[in-house]
Amino acid sequence: MPADLSPIDKAKFVAARRAVAFVEDGMRVGLGTGSTAAWMVRCLAERVKTEGLRITGVPTSSRTAELARQLGLRITSLDEAKWLDLTIDGADEFDANLALIKGGGGALLQEKIVATASDQMVVIADAAKEVAHLGAFPLPVEVIPFGWQTTRALIVETLGSLELMGREVTLRMNGDRAFVTDEGNYIVDLHLGRIDHPRQLALILNQIPGVVENGLFIDICDVVIIGHGDGRVDVRDINAGTIAHETVEFAETDNVFGAD
Ligand code: A5P
Repeated sequence: MPADLSPIDKAKFVAARRAVAFVEDGMRVGLGTGSTAAWMVRCLAERVKTEGLRITGVPTSSRTAELARQLGLRITSLDEAKWLDLTIDGADEFDANLALIKGGGGALLQEKIVATASDQMVVIADAAKEVAHLGAFPLPVEVIPFGWQTTRALIVETLGSLELMGREVTLRMNGDRAFVTDEGNYIVDLHLGRIDHPRQLALILNQIPGVVENGLFIDICDVVIIGHGDGRVDVRDINAGTIAHETVEFAETDNVFGAD
């Protein structure tokens, strides 16, 4: 493993490499977004090259599509693929029930659509993403630009009715402009601190006109692979109720480190 990779990057890498072992020949695979998912795309491209694995990827963002193309992965749209065997993606937080917060990278809408259209969702993360209660990471909510300030005000009012009054709801920025998602929408981040009832909150937020989707992923993730900086991985399967402790072997000379 290259010495200049930080322990967090090593953790992300080993989780990604373990996750691509779930991919079988002929599968249609949802490709997540973010720094951990980018390792997964590289590891998948390495398997395609070295093993001749035939897969079709469905990217969850323009960034991931670009990386996959650069690495020579065959990609298509969800409309073309229709249903996927597996999606592998990162997360900003996950809890013991494998409920997630996603959208730190702004791709939550496509990520949720793609993961929901998959037989299985595998989340890859470093150990710092595991939390007892979701919500320390600001919850991203995608809103349409039309009337976004009114939508934001309605979100604030709704939080008040859920005894979450006074929580900050901020428009995500990209420099001095609003951040714009791949779908042309804005994101507001809900600084909640702690979410006691994620399922209820996810449903209520999506009732607000102007809200397109929220970053709470409930009952979508099947497996989480937690990577550690020393090469260990924990594979937690929520359906089987199992946790496997394994070690991912790799060498500094692995092609994956040169593939960018
Ligand atoms: C992208 O919109 C997000 O949902 C990412 O999956 C999430 O933010 C994790 O990203 P990192 O792997 O970069 O931490």
